[in-house]
Amino acid sequence: MIGIYVHIPFCESKCIYCAFASFVRNANCQAKYFEFLNKEIKNCDFFDRQVSSIYFGGGTPSYVKPEKLAEILKTIKTHFNVLENAEITIECNPCSVSTQKLSSYFDAGFNRISFGVQSLDESMLKFLGRRHTKAQALDAIGYAKNTGFENISADLLLGLPAGDIISDAQTLIAAGVKHISAYMLQIEGGTPLKNMVESGKVKLPSDDETVDNYQKLADFLQKNRFLQYEISNFALKGFKSKHNFAYWTGQAYLGFGLGAHSFDGKYKRFANADNFEDYFAGKQNVEKLSPSQRDEEMIMLGLRCESGFDTKKLHFDISQNANFQKYINGEVLQKIGSTIKLNPKFYNISNSVIIDLLP
Ligand SMILES: C[S@@+](CC[C@H](N)C(=O)[O-])C[C@H]1O[C@@H](n2cnc3c(N)ncnc32)[C@H](O)[C@@H]1O
Ligand code: SF4
Repeated sequence: MIGIYVHIPFCESKCIYCAFASFVRNANCQAKYFEFLNKEIKNCDFFDRQVSSIYFGGGTPSYVKPEKLAEILKTIKTHFNVLENAEITIECNPCSVSTQKLSSYFDAGFNRISFGVQSLDESMLKFLGRRHTKAQALDAIGYAKNTGFENISADLLLGLPAGDIISDAQTLIAAGVKHISAYMLQIEGGTPLKNMVESGKVKLPSDDETVDNYQKLADFLQKNRFLQYEISNFALKGFKSKHNFAYWTGQAYLGFGLGAHSFDGKYKRFANADNFEDYFAGKQNVEKLSPSQRDEEMIMLGLRCESGFDTKKLHFDISQNANFQKYINGEVLQKIGSTIKLNPKFYNISNSVIIDLLP
């Protein structure tokens, strides 16, 4: 089984923190892009596998014409063996959806919506360069529910200079979201936010404060029956993201569009060019992973999510690592048969545990 990712690299404007391959481009560029995207999918010779999830991410998929997305989804369904119960997600920005757009997504076959909310604090939304207000975010969730979407997720950012992420989560749960992704704000090179932080214009909370907030948020969500199934992801029963789960458990996936990555589930990774010129020229970067790179990846991804990693799949004997035994004895790691998991209480120190275990 495989997952398919489709990248839609267009946004109405850039948020100050975002380094994703997303650009403000005119209709001509969009038309050419969708033409190439369609061709790329049709020319893919990996069509024998069953597809369990499809994810349209960005950029802002909800910024482009819904017909374009429906057409791409149709091409995928024609070209691949998409399972009847496949999870089909579309990332939406709350300011660029309407009941009409959401109905077109629903009719096209999308069955999961992921809203980029980031914060419900009006001053933070303005500061981040978001184009929506708190009311628009909540309205968008309401429209999606009314359209028939049951599986609705919201993204929040941890580590912002102001705002109250717990009260935001509470409001979003009351509004009806079934899944919350809470990402630590990354200060990415080349973004306006990085300049602001470096010049002292913006002061971010300390790492300790952010970790403390993260822990409080995780506790709050668990109390509200949102199970933590990955470091940044929480879901009510039955609403874990199948697509993300496939990434974290090392399944094969195909990525179409600008900068999209594919993985054959074994040792080969492909990355499309992340600028339009090279993407239109069909340029790709192919990377062959060594057994130890695969091991590193399995450990890193596995320790970030509840499924853990299987020691039988590694190319070395992890029990020979002195830290491994120390972490097992200290109950930082949990061993169930040949599976090793990080005790969720220690998600906040996951990075150092991972480094200590790498071959
Ligand atoms: C690529 S965006 C697409 C969603 C949509 N464009 C939007 O912003 O509403 C997916 C998510 O990545 C997260 N993200 C983007 N930049 C980030 C950063 N610098 N640090 C942490 N998370 C980030 C945001 O939470 C965002 O919702
Ligand atoms: S966060 Fe979303 S809307 Fe903002 S620039 Fe990035 S992709 Fe576009």
